[in-house]
Amino acid sequence: MNILVTGGAGYIGSHTCVELLKNNHSIIIADNLCNSKIETLDRIKQISNKELTFYQIDVTDASAVESIFSSHQIDGVIHFAGLKAVGESVSKPLEYYYNNIVSTMILAKACITYKVNKFVFSSSATVYGENKVPFVETMDLLPTTNPYGETKAMSERILRDAAKANPGFSVSLLRYFNPVGAHESGLIGEAPNGIPNNLMPYVTQVAKGKLEKLRVFGNDYPTVDGTGVRDYIHVVDLAEGHVVAIEKLTEGVHIYNLGTGQGTSVLQLLQAFQEANNIKIPYDIVDRRSGDIAICYADASKAERDLGWKAKRGVNEMCRDAWRFEKGYDEEQ
Ligand code: NAD
Ligand code: UFG
Repeated sequence: MNILVTGGAGYIGSHTCVELLKNNHSIIIADNLCNSKIETLDRIKQISNKELTFYQIDVTDASAVESIFSSHQIDGVIHFAGLKAVGESVSKPLEYYYNNIVSTMILAKACITYKVNKFVFSSSATVYGENKVPFVETMDLLPTTNPYGETKAMSERILRDAAKANPGFSVSLLRYFNPVGAHESGLIGEAPNGIPNNLMPYVTQVAKGKLEKLRVFGNDYPTVDGTGVRDYIHVVDLAEGHVVAIEKLTEGVHIYNLGTGQGTSVLQLLQAFQEANNIKIPYDIVDRRSGDIAICYADASKAERDLGWKAKRGVNEMCRDAWRFEKGYDEEQ
C-alpha cells in the first residue's frame, strides 16, 4: 500500500514507518517537525534501507494536505500528528483542540473526497478515564482530566460519525497504553524537548546524569506497592500493531487497545531498569501528580483475536532499548 503517515518523524510514527517499509509498503510522511527532527528521516531510511517521501507541512493546513492527496495515489492514512503533553494541554487548551481536532477533520475530509478508504488513528487509553481495569473496548468512555484527553475522545467521535455517513470510509481507532523503549538499532527513540513528563524518558535522563533524581509521584495508591500502575508497551510492538491494523482494516469502525495486558508499578519499572542496565537510579517519593489515575492496563485480547497481534517484548527489553537510545543520543544532532 501507499500510506500517508502524518507525524511520521515523531516517536511512534518513526518506528511505524520502519515497520511499514519492512513490510514493503511505500510511505509519504507529512510532519511540521514541531516536536521532531529532520535527521530522524535519514535514520528511518538507514534502518530500512528504503526510500520515502517527505512533506514538511502542517496538517491543519487544508490546502497543503489537499495538494498531497491530489499528487499521490494514497491507499491509507495513519494519523499520528498531534500535540501530546498532558500538562501543556491544560495551559494551552486552544492550541491542543485546534491542532488535534482540526487536523483529524481535514484529513478525514480529504480521504472522503479522494476515496481513500483506510484511516488509522492514534487514540489513547486516557479516553477510558477512571473506568475499572482492565480497560475493554466496549466500555463507556468517562471524562478525561485534561484537554489533551478530550481531543482524543472527540477525534474518535468525529471519525466514527464520518464513517457512518460515508460507507466505505473505514476507521481503526487504536488506543495506546504507555509506549516506551526504542528501536534495537539505537538510532530512533523518544527524545522529548525539555524536562520529560513521562516516566521512562525521565529515568533514562537520570541514568545519563542529565537529571539528578527521579521523583516518584505518590506511594499511597491502592496498588501492589502504592505507586501508579501502567501498561507499558514496547514502541516496536506498537508499530507492528499499526501495520496489521491497516493491512487488515475492513469496512466500518474498529477500536483496539494496543497494550500488553500487564500492569507494572513505578517501583517495579525502576527495579527492572536498574537490573536490565546495571545502573542505580536515585529517587524520592513525593506527592501524587494531579490528574494521575492509580491503575491503567488493557484487556488486549480483541487485537489478538481480530488482528492476530500481540505484544511480544517484555519490560526488560523496553528498559534496555530505552537506555541504548538515550546513551547514544546527542541533542546537538
Ligand atoms: P511525537 O510528538 O513524538 O510525534 C508527533 C509528531 O507529529 C511530531 O513529529 C510532530 O512534529 C508532528 N506534528 C504535531 N502536530 C502537527 C501538525 N499540525 N502538522 C504536522 N505535524 C505535526 O508524539 P508520539 O509519542 O509519537 O505520539 C504520536 C501520536 O500518538 C499522537 O497523536 C499522540 O497523542 C498519540 N499518543 C501518544 C502516546 C504516548 O505516550 N507517546 C500515548 C497515547 C497516544
Ligand atoms: N511518574 C513518576 N515520576 C515521573 C513521571 C511519571 O512517578 O517523573 C509516574 C506517574 O505518576 C504514573 C507513571 O509514572 O504513575 C506513568 O506516568 P507517565 O507520565 O509516563 O504516563 P501517564 O500514564 O501519566 O500518561 C501516558 C501519556 C498520555 C497517555 C497515557 C495513556 O503521557 O499521553 O499514557 O495511558 F494518554
